[in-house]
Formats: sequence, structure tokens, C-alpha cells
Amino acid sequence: MCGIVGYTGPKRVVPVILEGLRRLEYRGYDSAGVVYLQDGRLIKHRAEGKLVNLENRIDDAIIAKAHIGLGHTRWATHGAPTEENAHPHSDCSGDLVVVHNGIIENYHSLREDLKSKGHVFSSETDTEVLAHLIEEHLKDDLVEAVKAALKLVDGSFALGVLWAKQPGTLIAARNQSPLVLGVSEDNGMLMASDIPALLPYTNKVVFLEDMEMAVITASSYAVSSLETGAEVEKEVKIIEWNAAMAEKAGYKHFMLKEIYEQPQAITNTLSGRINPETGEVFIPEVNLTSEDVTKIDRIFLVACGTSWHAALVAKYWIEKYARIPVDVDIASEFRYRDLVIDERVMTISISQSGETADTLAGIRIAKQLGSKVITICNVVGSTMTREADGTVYTHAGPEIGVASTKAFTAQLAALFLLTLQLGQLKGTVSLEKSLELGRALIDVAAVIGRDLKKMQNQIAELIETFYDARDFLFVGRGLSYPIALEGALKLKELSYIHAEGYASGELKHGPIALIDKDMPILALVPKDAVYQKSISNVEEIKARQGRLILIGTEGDDHLKNITDDVIYMPEVHEEMNPLLYTIPAQLLSYEIANRRGCDVDQPRNLAKSVTVE
Ligand code: F6R
Repeated sequence: MCGIVGYTGPKRVVPVILEGLRRLEYRGYDSAGVVYLQDGRLIKHRAEGKLVNLENRIDDAIIAKAHIGLGHTRWATHGAPTEENAHPHSDCSGDLVVVHNGIIENYHSLREDLKSKGHVFSSETDTEVLAHLIEEHLKDDLVEAVKAALKLVDGSFALGVLWAKQPGTLIAARNQSPLVLGVSEDNGMLMASDIPALLPYTNKVVFLEDMEMAVITASSYAVSSLETGAEVEKEVKIIEWNAAMAEKAGYKHFMLKEIYEQPQAITNTLSGRINPETGEVFIPEVNLTSEDVTKIDRIFLVACGTSWHAALVAKYWIEKYARIPVDVDIASEFRYRDLVIDERVMTISISQSGETADTLAGIRIAKQLGSKVITICNVVGSTMTREADGTVYTHAGPEIGVASTKAFTAQLAALFLLTLQLGQLKGTVSLEKSLELGRALIDVAAVIGRDLKKMQNQIAELIETFYDARDFLFVGRGLSYPIALEGALKLKELSYIHAEGYASGELKHGPIALIDKDMPILALVPKDAVYQKSISNVEEIKARQGRLILIGTEGDDHLKNITDDVIYMPEVHEEMNPLLYTIPAQLLSYEIANRRGCDVDQPRNLAKSVTVE
């Protein structure tokens, strides 16, 4: 949430910042701003709404000489999404600017105090307090002033600071919001909220930890602790992603590109982790032994949103194959519950970004209570991966579309592998069974790759009858239930149609009252262990004139007797249905949103990487 970029080096700063913001716009698009230092003066441009509004205001000719600056793309927390509230925010003199991601929890009392000392505020934001607070402590040493100011602050921050009177220096600081430095001998130094902003210039990065600060010049960086002031030795990490991976590559939207990347994302996630001859699973990163697994009494799966849906699927798999009881929790609830957790509990967090504030807080609590913590994560080096005892990376590549797609199916692949590993270590899954299931997982990626285009064409045609619906229901049983929830989430976030997902068997306990001839209901009815039960539930819907869309297994002619709107899926191993049936649910939401003219990649009110609670 909120993207910040900072640059100093030989390049013209404004194009570097704008390119960085373009790559971070998924983090928020309520307003954008840039500041640069030219002829000893800080020059700010800000605009309400998307980055394009800012770009339209900047005259390229006047920015030729600037080589240091900061930029911000905002997801509003405190204060409306207006130009006045857009970052960068300045102090009273206008010589100092700040960009910020996070929430300053004690901003109100700080603001009142600063006002009583004569500071004049021009926005409603919590961030502006930081600019004035630093100004209050500033004599001639910016570093000391930032440190002194941050000592008074409660809350989360990733911060960029620039002072006109120290023209070659940028300050970066972090607490509970992500911030990473980009290091390049030729292109200068960068800071950003996320890696894609750095990739056009460097693949060498340094992750800042909580309560660390960096002093950056065009050719150096020095990191120190905000608490002790001591210098901190940092490791430079090499990122395997390249800049082109964060581009649309000819697709109309990032989301569509990412839907099409799913076969590759699943394959990459499996690659090298399962022996296709013997069925043996290798996930050395989680460092689990048979002894560890035998001691586990219970697993908590903790996540938010789409990642939580992946957790719901994994519960079925882990309980069935590894025979370990699983609780699935929404992280924002988990973190405030009176948890019964000790060292016999394993906690698994699932997160595309590895930065989601609630999930991160959840694993910190679980760790304190003695639980071993494993994370399933897509972003290399993200905070969750640094704090967990082990990480199973999903190798989905950068996900830019705000609605998660390929990260979800890659999470499912990683969770299934982890299930097999737990089962093998516990002795509940034989190598023979593992081989059968492992091959099924490898095969499903190929099946999706083969049939994706066909599915998209069919769905694009089908939605003509449904795209203007006011409400939508998604139903499924067993492994299809979490996919129904995921389908409903995708549709509501992308197209703003009210949609709900239900376990099919739960309909008659209330939601069936919603059904009439105007209510579209997408029912997932693969030929699986609960097929007959699902069909009975579908018949109940039909009896109440619901407008049914069925997604079922190729060759199941009975479905055509129920409704004309049937999408047939190839038959795959039953356990793989969640991966396969997610694809039409994603495509349906994509096509409906596109047909309604919605902003598919940047739906209203949302941002990717939810770093505030
Ligand atoms: C929905 C979506 C969100 C995220 C959620 C968790 O399409 O993308 O629901 O899944 O915000 O994010 P991560 O996985 O980064 O923790």
C-alpha cells in the first residue's frame, strides 16, 4: 500500500521516478507525486488520481538537470485522495520533503504539539507530521534530525527524506513497511517499496529491516540502526526477475497476462522439488525431519484474501494425506485471538507479497508462542521470508495485477507439495502414492496451458447474458468450496458486482432465499467424491428458477439437462480440480469486468500488498 521511489545518480531523476511509480502503481492509485532538486530548490508536482494525471503535468524540458528526487503513489489512509493530501509533503520552509508508506498512529498528538510550536500544516495526512517533526529537530545534521524525529513516532513507516540544504543525500528508513535499496555502479542508487521499480536499473538489492535507516548518495549507502545508531553490515542480494517480466507483453491487462502465465508458474513452483520417477519430494528450505513432523499436533494456516482461499484448499489436502488437524485463520482475526499455540503447533503463512501486515503480525505472535513458522511466499527477500523459520517460494514471477491469479495457483502447487512432504515424513503417504499425486500436479499445468484459450473464448461468449447482473452466487462442495469463494472475491473486486461464495450444502440454511429467476449462480460440479451431493444442490437451485452456469467434467452429459450454460473442463486427478477450476472462475471475472469497462488491473479502493492493518 503506497509506493515510494527515490533516486540519486547520473540519470535524469524524473523519468526514473515516474518509471518506478508506474511499476509500483499497483500499491495505490489515489494520487501521485514527485519532487526533485534543481538549482538548490525542491520542485514538487502532485496530482489526484492515477499516475497518468501526474505525468500529464510534468514538462520534460524543465527537468533536464535534476539528478536527485523522490516519488510516491498513494493509497489513502488519513485524509481524502486529493491533491493537497498527495505526497511528497513538505515542512514549513519548503526545503525538506518526505514520502511515506505506513501509518503514524500518534500523529494527532504530534500534530497538535507541532502546531502549538508554530508549525503550519497544509494537508490532513499523518505523513505531514513527519516533515514538521524532522524540521523541528533540524539544525545542520539531517541524519540526526530524522533519528530524533522517528524516536517520537508510533506506527509503521517506510520513509524517503530529501533536504535542499544537503543536496546529494537521500534518507530511507523503515519500520513495518517494506523498503529496499537498489545498488548499481553505473546507474546510481535507488530506494523503493518493491523490487519491480528497481529492475530497469539493477538486480542488486539490499533489504532494510525494521528500525533501520540508510543514508544514500549517488555512489554509496550506509545502513544504521535507528535504535542504537550502530552501523549495520548488509548483504547485497541478486534478484533473478528481470524488468521485462513486469511488463504486459502484448496482453491488454496484466491480469490476463498473469492468468496465461499460470501453467508456467505452477511448473516453476514444482521444478526440482519432486522427483518424477520416484515421487520423492525435496523442499530443503523448510528444513523438516520425520522427528519434527511426528511431533506436530496441529497446523495453523494463516493468510488474507485470495491467499486465505489457498489455505482453505490446503486444509482438505493436509488432513487427508498428512493426517494432521488443520485450522485455517484469517490473519486479522488470528492475531487478536487468544491462541492455543505451543511448540507442537506448526504455523504456515501464505502470502504473495510477504508483506501483508496482518499475516506478518500473525506469524510473529505464533513464533513468540513457540510455533515453528513456515511461509509460502512469492516475493524473494520479503519480510515474511526473512522472519519465518523456512520459506517455500512460489516461483510465479512478479504479479502486478491487483487481483491475485497466478500467485494463487502457484500457492496451491506449493501447498500440495508441502502436503506430500509432510505425508512422506510422517509415513502417511507412500512414495507410490506421492508419485501418482506428483504426476497429477505436473499434468494439470499442461492441461491448463492447452485449454486456456478455448476456455477464454467460451467464457467471453457466455458472459454476454450475465455481465450486467446485480448479484452473483458461486457454489461448490469439498475442494470446490474454496474455489467458489475465490470466484466470488474475484468478481466483486474486479467488476463491483455483489457476489458471494457458499458451500453448496449450506444454501438451504439461508442463502437459498436469495434465488429467483434473476440470480446467476455459478456452480462447480466436477466428477469428484461429492459429485452426487453437488448435483442434488444444483437441482434445488434449478427448482427455484436460478440462472445456473455449471462448470463440470467433460463427458458429463447430465449437466446439459440442467442448464444450457455448461463449461466443460478436461478430467484431471480429483485433487487437482482446485487448480483447474480456478481458471474459468478467474476468466469469468476478467471478462465481465472488461465487458463492463472496469479498470481490471487497478480496481477502485484496492491496492496490492496491504501493509496496513
Ligand atoms: C485478491 C487479492 C487479495 C490478496 C490479499 C493477501 O485478488 O489479491 O485478497 O490475496 O490481500 O495478499 P498477500 O497474498 O500478498 O498476503
